[in-house]
Amino acid sequence: AVTRTFSIIKPDATRRNLTGAVTKKLEDAGLRVVASKRIQMTREQAEGFYAVHKERPFFGELVDFMVSGPVVVQVLEGEDAVKRNRDVMGATNPADAEEGTIRKEFAESIEANSVHGSDSEENAATEIAFFFDDSEIVG
Ligand code: CMP
Repeated sequence: AVTRTFSIIKPDATRRNLTGAVTKKLEDAGLRVVASKRIQMTREQAEGFYAVHKERPFFGELVDFMVSGPVVVQVLEGEDAVKRNRDVMGATNPADAEEGTIRKEFAESIEANSVHGSDSEENAATEIAFFFDDSEIVG
């Protein structure tokens, strides 16, 4: 079925002017960008977005990193969008990512790993609603 997922192009990628290159990988994988905006996340937004990770040892650094520069938040639509996006992103740690994936090509480290993507349809809906109003999504 055609579904939606949520993506973030992270500060390491926007800093290196890779917004277009990352988006092309998403589009080439069969995903369509149906909403997109470049924002400077606030600390409150980053902490709220990553609340599930707040007990993890890397939480503080993760939040610092996510507010260190602009990000591009996107809604992606396509056949089985969550899985399709996870496949093209590659493993969280670029050292484990497969050839041809976004993280293999562009990520700098497990933290500066260029993209975030929802890990389930349920989380996708929550994450989309965290950053977008329905009126901003045009399929
Ligand atoms: P993301 O999919 O955005 O979700 C949580 C993020 O935490 C993850 O990608 C990584 O970029 C980041 N992170 C930093 N350190 C770690 C770690 N040791 N294990 C997992 N994720 C980490």
